[in-house]
Order: sequence, then structure tokens, then C-alpha cells
Amino acid sequence: MRIIKKIAAMKEVVNSLKLEGKTIGLVPTMGYLHQGHLSLVRESLYQAEQTVVSIFVNPAQFGPAEDYQQYPRDLKRDAKILEKEGVDFIFAPEVKEMYPEGYKTYVQVEKLQDRLCGRSRPGHFRGVCTVVLKLFNIVKPDLAFFGQKDAQQAVILKKMVRDLDLDVRIKVLPIVRDKDGLALSSRNTYLNPDQRRAALSISRSLKMAEEMIKKGERKAGKIIKRIKEIIEEEPQARLDYAAIVELEELNPVTEINQDVLIALAVFIDRVRLIDNTIIRFKG
Ligand code: PAJ
Repeated sequence: MRIIKKIAAMKEVVNSLKLEGKTIGLVPTMGYLHQGHLSLVRESLYQAEQTVVSIFVNPAQFGPAEDYQQYPRDLKRDAKILEKEGVDFIFAPEVKEMYPEGYKTYVQVEKLQDRLCGRSRPGHFRGVCTVVLKLFNIVKPDLAFFGQKDAQQAVILKKMVRDLDLDVRIKVLPIVRDKDGLALSSRNTYLNPDQRRAALSISRSLKMAEEMIKKGERKAGKIIKRIKEIIEEEPQARLDYAAIVELEELNPVTEINQDVLIALAVFIDRVRLIDNTIIRFKG
């Protein structure tokens, strides 16, 4: 496994892989890897001949009051894990390599970027799209792997790929959870045991929503109300949003009569956690 820090060096490697006709899989990450990330890595190793994992805590997707500085970083630990998995390359550029002084170009997917998480994190998806497009241009992957955990991110990136005619196929893989139901996240490391317990209300509320729908409930408002109640039962938890939206434009629905995404974001103290579930409509 090679760790590459420079864009020019990464491009050189990619160009020679292309000449050999190798397919390239890219797994973009911000590091501090967990089993959620590794599920994407393993799928790339399985589907592509060469796998590049990028590790880059992207300042452009963090708001001024967010956790860019505190975000956990440990390249040595991540490299050890990825080496064991059999990954071919880590691309881990410095910030000034990706955004040299005077950097000015950003990519936006209009409307979709303003919904759900975009409301409380203005500029977040602009940062995500910009860095992911840069990574696509540097690594030129045939396949790129993302997690359903960040459902809106996956929808937006697929739209970017379609709108900009990019030659990459996006694969979205299921949410990996801890045994207790908590969706794995690098941000879970911020939680103390008490907060972690409070955070379980998030997946619990989604389970409840799934059950309500299974039992025939079709009113989105009623389901959202129940989600709110479950989160509010936890004094340490504060709901940022809970929404039930269709999967194309992420518009809210009132009746569940099509496939929907149920998504929520919850603050546990200052830690913002997200989770979601997709409900397939069966009539
Ligand atoms: P990061 O939060 O490190 O996540 C990297 C990838 O892992 C994303 O596609 C995310 O959806 C996926 N992932 C995270 N937790 C997961 C879980 N529990 N189960 C399944 N997949 C999971 O998302 C980002 O980084 C950044 O926005 C990035 C795309 C790298 C752009 O900077």
C-alpha cells in the first residue's frame, strides 16, 4: 500500500493504472475509520481492480461554528487498518494541496443542497460537492462508494454526476450500526457513556417509525410527531430536524404513498448526529 500526499503523484499513478486498463474504485473519507467506512472499502476491493481510499478532513464542508478543529484525525491508525484490508493506495493530501491560496471555485447542486441537513449547515454540501468533484478529477475512478448513512450527500452527489456528465458510477451501501443500533460515525468518539445512551433514542425513533408504517400508518405528520416525542424523552438530546421526504427532490411528503426517506439530525450536547431509513412503498 502506498500513501500519496500530492495531487501530481496521485494523477501519475492513476494514469499508469489507466494505461494498464485497470478499473479504479474510490472511497472518499475524512478518516478515523470505522466499520461503516470499511464496508465501503471492502466493496471497492471486491468490485474494482485497484482501490484508492482518500482521507481528507475537508475544511470547505464545515461551518465556522462546527467541529473542523476537533474532528478526530489519526492517519497512522487509518493506514494500518487499510493496509490490513489490502487497499492499494491512500490519498491523503494537505489542506493547502487541495485548496492553495486564492482558491475560488465551488460546485453547488441547487435546491437539494438547501434541504434537510443543508438548512442547519449552510454551505456544507457545496463543500462536499467541491471536494468530491476534485477527488473524482484527481483519481478518475470508475466506481465511487458512499454510505446511506449520509443519505442526502448520496442523493446530491448522484445528481452532480448526472448533471455534469461525469464518468463515474456511484454505489451507495447500507448503514452499518453498532450492536445497540447506533449508526457508526467518527463523531461517536465525542460521546461519553451517558451521551451515548441518550444517542440511542435516534435509531430507536426510526425503528418506531418503521413499525408505525408497517402497522398501516400513512400520515407523515403523525410519524414525525412520534419521532419528536422519543427524542424529547431524552433530556440530553435536542432534535435538529426530523423529516419524511421523497427520494428524488427530497421534498416533504404528507402521505406515505411512495418510497420515502425518513431522516433526522439530533444534537447530543454539541455533537450533531444523523441517521435515516428508507421505506419502500408496497401499497
Ligand atoms: P465520512 O463521514 O468520513 O464518511 C465517508 C463515507 O463513509 C461516506 O460515504 C459515509 O456515508 C460513509 N459512512 C459513514 N458512516 C457510515 C455507516 N455507519 N455506515 C455506512 N457508511 C458510512 O462523508 C464524508 O466523510 C465526507 O462528506 C466526504 C464524502 C469524504 C467528503 O469530504
